Amino acid sequence: MGIFNKTKKTEKRDYLSGKEIRAIAKENAKVMKRLEAYKYRKADESEYLTKMKNDDNILEIDNLHTYFFTEQGVVKSVNGVSFDVPKNATVGIVGESGCGKSVTSMSVMRLIQGPTGQIYSGEIRFKEKDDKVYDIAKMPIRDIYKIRGNEIAMIFQEPMTSLNPVFTIGQQLDEVTFIHKEGVTKDSAKAKSIEMLNLVGIAMPERVYNSFPHELSGGMRQRVMIAMALASDPRLIIADEPTTALDVTIQAQILDLLRDLKSKIDGSIMLITHDLGVIAEMADYVVVMYAGRVIEKGTVSEIFHNPLHPYTIGLQKSKPTLDSKDEELFNIPGNVPNPVNMPNYCYFKERCSKCVKKCNGDYPEMVQVSPTHFVACHLYEEDKNNG
Ligand SMILES: Nc1ncnc2c1ncn2[C@@H]1O[C@H](COP(=O)(O)OP(=O)(O)O)[C@@H](O)[C@H]1O
Ligand code: SF4
Ligand SMILES: [Mg+2]
Repeated sequence: MGIFNKTKKTEKRDYLSGKEIRAIAKENAKVMKRLEAYKYRKADESEYLTKMKNDDNILEIDNLHTYFFTEQGVVKSVNGVSFDVPKNATVGIVGESGCGKSVTSMSVMRLIQGPTGQIYSGEIRFKEKDDKVYDIAKMPIRDIYKIRGNEIAMIFQEPMTSLNPVFTIGQQLDEVTFIHKEGVTKDSAKAKSIEMLNLVGIAMPERVYNSFPHELSGGMRQRVMIAMALASDPRLIIADEPTTALDVTIQAQILDLLRDLKSKIDGSIMLITHDLGVIAEMADYVVVMYAGRVIEKGTVSEIFHNPLHPYTIGLQKSKPTLDSKDEELFNIPGNVPNPVNMPNYCYFKERCSKCVKKCNGDYPEMVQVSPTHFVACHLYEEDKNNG
């Protein structure tokens, strides 16, 4: 790892020398080769069976590190992220663009593109239907079919790019059932597809079933994507900015739909968004991310009524409300640090108006302020001793 942290030389200039680039490439190649071999190994299930820390959770992400080994150095996109998704709960992940929300969700789905992108360390514990617990981070990629698109389904931001333009909606929906269920006939697959289209509030399911993606509106396509995610009866749905590409009125409809479905599917939702308003409406728990780390997490009421981290407080001030005008919006000043060269101190320091002396020291540890509320900020370290 030595080379990745060797920043002194490069701090004085904005570029890397040829020698440094070659050294980075060599070190990267070594690590990527080891991690790729691990990913493509054959392994007995017992190697990645594990136990949940808390039996009420369906997913436990524990100190996850997901890196991209680029020519400029190692981008630590997810840098020690931990949070839980309880059964039957909606957990909202919020943070500015680029803070590592998608990389976290893609890590859970094991969709990180190698050899550059790799889960470097950490655990992703998931309880599947038969109550077996898998550490997804350790699963060989050949075994991922056991859960991906099956026990865990994902809804992406841009439904057009996730649908295949040359097949009808029906063909694509039937395919999901064929892949994930045994003993399916053409008729039973179609019946299931129509049932799913009905479930997501599509009025003329037969017509949509026979349509091509380009014949549908954005909102309809997102409904189809949700139907597709539901076709495998998942226990966990990961929705990554599911409404960002849609008009405001359609956004509200899709959110209503997701909320309604959660009760029907008896599962959990991990909802990723940069929009605190969406979180307030949908989530039971909130995880706030900043520069690849979780800086605060708690119940929705803790995060909205008692936000502690200066970044969470700033996010709430920058949230537009009905009676705020654009120019009155608070803007958190400054930039996120360069992900290749993260400092040792709090990543938010350059933008924080509440800095104390301690903030020049080490990165703040996570402090527990209630059974469910945690914050990583030096202002609260005193509370640790009080319980
Ligand atoms: N393929 C990649 N190569 C290098 N860096 C990447 C790659 N994918 C994502 N990143 C970086 O990882 C960080 C987190 O990205 P992402 O998880 O997509 O953010 P968001 O919170 O907006 O979803 C960003 O700094 C991004 O530039
Ligand atoms: S640790 Fe210090 S710099 Fe970081 S958010 Fe807290 S007060 Fe601000
Ligand atoms: Mg994203």
